Amino acid sequence: MSSPHPSPKSPAASGTYSVTETAEPSRSAVVTRLRAAGCVFAEDEAALLIAAAPTPDDLAALIERRTAGHPLEHVLGWAEFGGLRVAVDPGVFVPRRRTEFLLDQAVALGRRLSGRTGRHIVAVDLCCGSGAVGAALAAALGGVELHACDIEPAAVRCARRNVAAAGGRVYEGDLFAPLPVHLQGRIDVLTANVPYVPTEEVGLLPPEAREHEPLVALDGGADGLDVLRRVTAAAPRWLAPGGHLLVETGERQAPRAMETFRRSGLIPRVATSDELYATVVIGTRPTDPTRPTGTTDPNGTKTA
Ligand SMILES: C[S@@+](CC[C@H](N)C(=O)[O-])C[C@H]1O[C@@H](n2cnc3c(N)ncnc32)[C@H](O)[C@@H]1O
Repeated sequence: MSSPHPSPKSPAASGTYSVTETAEPSRSAVVTRLRAAGCVFAEDEAALLIAAAPTPDDLAALIERRTAGHPLEHVLGWAEFGGLRVAVDPGVFVPRRRTEFLLDQAVALGRRLSGRTGRHIVAVDLCCGSGAVGAALAAALGGVELHACDIEPAAVRCARRNVAAAGGRVYEGDLFAPLPVHLQGRIDVLTANVPYVPTEEVGLLPPEAREHEPLVALDGGADGLDVLRRVTAAAPRWLAPGGHLLVETGERQAPRAMETFRRSGLIPRVATSDELYATVVIGTRPTDPTRPTGTTDPNGTKTA
């Protein structure tokens, strides 16, 4: 797969191995094997694996990897995210359904900014992993100047494929370090789904994450907020006036993250989704840094 494309309504229906009446017995055998290996959604997964396998030998290899505990998305080579089918290579963080909430918030803010300014926004997806957030943001907004970066070479390679459709550029390195300097003060929407699991809790994650996703994608330090603090400290220099930084956190981490945003001079707020069990902290760079707190700027953003 070279670039993301809209997900088919039924992945099984789009595959090269159709589930015909004659294939039905092997389908139930696949379900049984997946179920025995502990796959909760064995029926759905069987349909996806069958659809992905051009030959019975390929199917056997996919089932082997899945029942050995590899994440379904790594076995298939893709994940569905924000209406796109995004390439996800082994060793790359699998985009989570809950992060679609961060995406929705970013899309809404991006639409508002481009509607007001009448130009394509500048979007940066920091800690981009597969590039899912940036790719889906660009697809939803239609036109953006998209940049993304990650410290992991495997993620960078994967993201390059996923953001290609949006003409995005992907850089490799530590947080903002590899970004071109000309982006300073110009970023309208800065998404950063940083690692935020507290170090002590990494061992409690499901084996699929612990054993198949890189530690650097998960471990956020003692309280989970180490990378978030570094991003937040540097963000005001990179954001355009009125630009937004969006990060996902755990529910309990949000108050401390808000305080970090505030100390960096960003105007923070929290958005939550009960349905996706998602918390997103959004910080806005004031358009007028001299404006006293408690007032409302031209964006309608109230200072804390
Ligand atoms: C939780 S994953 C999120 C990936 C992607 N944004 C998503 O939502 O699917 C965090 C990502 O941050 C990257 N990362 C961790 N520390 C980093 C750093 N110092 N600089 C750049 N990227 C970093 C990891 O390699 C990983 O891909």
